[in-house]
Amino acid sequence: MKMPVGAGLLSLMWLSVSGALPLPPLAGMVVAQTAGTTPKELPDPFGPRRSAGEVLSEMRGHGGPVRAIAALDDGRRIVTGGFDSAIIVWGISPALAMHVLKFHDSTVNALATLPGDCFASGGEDARIALWCGDGVTPRRVFGGHTAPIATLTASPDGAVLASGSWDHTVRLWQVGGSGAEEAVTIGGHSGPVNGLAFSPDGKSLVSAGYDGQVRVTPVAGGPPARSVTLPAPVNAVAATRTGEIVTAGADGLLRFFTSELQEVGAADLGGGPLTTVALSPDGRIAATAGLRTAVTMIDVATRKPTSEILGPGLPVWSVAFSRDGRVLFTGGADRAVRRWDTATGKPAGGDIAEAGPEETANDPHPGARVFRACKACHGLTVNDVNRAGPTLHGIMGRRIAKAPGYPYSEALRRLDIEWSKETIARLFEIGPNAYLPGTKMPEQTISNAEDRKALVDWLAERSRKTE
Ligand code: HEC
Repeated sequence: MKMPVGAGLLSLMWLSVSGALPLPPLAGMVVAQTAGTTPKELPDPFGPRRSAGEVLSEMRGHGGPVRAIAALDDGRRIVTGGFDSAIIVWGISPALAMHVLKFHDSTVNALATLPGDCFASGGEDARIALWCGDGVTPRRVFGGHTAPIATLTASPDGAVLASGSWDHTVRLWQVGGSGAEEAVTIGGHSGPVNGLAFSPDGKSLVSAGYDGQVRVTPVAGGPPARSVTLPAPVNAVAATRTGEIVTAGADGLLRFFTSELQEVGAADLGGGPLTTVALSPDGRIAATAGLRTAVTMIDVATRKPTSEILGPGLPVWSVAFSRDGRVLFTGGADRAVRRWDTATGKPAGGDIAEAGPEETANDPHPGARVFRACKACHGLTVNDVNRAGPTLHGIMGRRIAKAPGYPYSEALRRLDIEWSKETIARLFEIGPNAYLPGTKMPEQTISNAEDRKALVDWLAERSRKTE
């Protein structure tokens, strides 16, 4: 499937992926919303024009909408999953793409942080992978679900991973196991399971789904599960430190329940379906967003919105708080990961990577702007090191897969290409998947011939510089 960078094709892409959206179709959902969108209204593929000194708060690298985000335990990295089937591990400061992980065959719907530098990913391909450290292949793969994975969560002690799927089941996996063990299967839902959360003591699991049910199931057996059925499908769920349960519904309502499933309040966000909800580490703030609802912060105690974040392209598919709660990361339709200061609701700055700050921020050459789509992953100057992608220093005239020390994919190592203005322009005219079959570089095309020319002219000049 094409994931064009060129804005003109974005609406087509939406139509082609919408059949596979991880949320079951809801009245008037994505197709209606995006089919009428004209290319003019779509976001600039290379990011907004900005003046010198303006805060840079976007991280670009995915070739499709950003479906899932998780902040890793070390507080220094986040991981994102996209409709482009890629997983990207990002450093936060500076904000660089550190690894592109290719494993899933299609959309990466869910991510969960695990202790000890690990995380799990779940895909539309019904597979779950466990990743640790700087590993570029999964440490373990958990198979057994028979339909897309929609949600993942880890128990508070990190020993158990719970997965919810369109196959209507929840499964519990031993993280320390070999991957070959049978998972414990929890039934009870009559539709796709969209959201999961453990109670703070890890003894019960909250699940919610398209059937409108919110269920609380004791993990180690014991009393039967409790459940309540809401008037609308539930797309996400979270549990506070005190055990309160928060659900995000297709009816635009964020509902609050006690651990016994007594409804204690609701916030009506007044828009279309909510897609996601996350709680701040101190449990005081819930962040939610949706297909037509901007990211909104809600005070859990009063159930009142405290601020709204305007800016990310709708729909927003994913939100996650940093480990210290000071930053909220969002991901959505326009393929960018953005970060926001949770205290002010404004873009959170920081050291977003620049390939030499002057080069992309203030360089008037049109190619510098196009290179913004590359810079999170590729260094360019003599001192730049390999990031998620190999350094492009000296790229012109270099044979493919020859940057020292970079772990190229098997696919790239087998190809025989010499990089030049022509071959790089061609790469982004037809897209990496077609030009470099099997590559881990996320799919993206630059549909405008002038943009391609500007990029390669600029690259030819800048990648030679030795200062
Ligand atoms: C999300 C990260 C990411 C982005 C964004 C990205 N790339 Fe890449 N790129 C990679 C990875 C990863 C590889 C190595 C692929 C492999 O080993 O299969 C790569 C490989 C390449 C190569 C081949 C290098 C070699 O040594 O053979 C070129 C050329 C390239 N990218 C150019 C670009 C340009 C130009 C852009 C922007 C239009 C761009 N890339 C955007 C991750 C990225």
